Amino acid sequence: MDEMHRPIGVFDSGVGGISVLKELVALMPNENYIFYGDSKNAPYGTKTLKEVQDLTCADAEYLLKQNVKALVVACNTATSAAIRILRKKYQDQMPVIGIEPALKPAVSVKKNPRVIVMATPMTIREEKFQKLLKQFTSRAQVISLPCPGLVEFVERGELESEALDDFLSVLFGPYRDEPIDAVVLGCTHYPLIRESIQKSLGSGVAVFDGGAGTARETLRKLKEYKILSDSTEQGTVVFENSTGDERMIELSRYLLERNLKH
Ligand code: DGL
Repeated sequence: MDEMHRPIGVFDSGVGGISVLKELVALMPNENYIFYGDSKNAPYGTKTLKEVQDLTCADAEYLLKQNVKALVVACNTATSAAIRILRKKYQDQMPVIGIEPALKPAVSVKKNPRVIVMATPMTIREEKFQKLLKQFTSRAQVISLPCPGLVEFVERGELESEALDDFLSVLFGPYRDEPIDAVVLGCTHYPLIRESIQKSLGSGVAVFDGGAGTARETLRKLKEYKILSDSTEQGTVVFENSTGDERMIELSRYLLERNLKH
């Protein structure tokens, strides 16, 4: 197969990365994609750094065996733990694109806004995020909010429920005294429950995620490596999941279709 017609490999600790895949498909519908979700090992965000680095490298190798032309790490946790390792190994051969919390647009909503960044404990702990945070602390009041337990709702396909509303109500409870201006969804699972998050925060709060920015960066990199597809036909999306469970593939397909409509 021509270099440019090979699929783009997209992966996440589970089905969360579909929020990024949706942006990729919307921006570049004629590309082919393989989405690999490592739901067997989800969540990554509460594991050790070494565990996440090893799992992330294994995910990348799994996709490389399938002859992908680019790697999109559709996971903030895996990006913060292992993007440097992946770039060192593979960027001579192909683009390696990661994702990070979309803090920049969130701190621009008004002068000195109060912004919550929701992410996994690992993303918040890692140096990459701490460095990003430093760039904005003089312009905004940024609250880093680790959300252990939230990814599991999405992995179960529980996108709306009373239990989820209760979880979010407890999570945001300590921040209700003063108004919040913006929230950053710093984990790719969270945009898949955006409606529940928005409902819990109220309609006046601006919500941001990094999916569209990652898709734009992927397009830029495909052009730079001269491997953007010239196909004029709709591409294909293949879903794979480490659980080997057909229900996870069905959930993945459902999530992509549901989100492409929005
Ligand atoms: N979807 C992932 C992220 O963007 C990680 C969730 C997890 O496995 O903890 O951070």
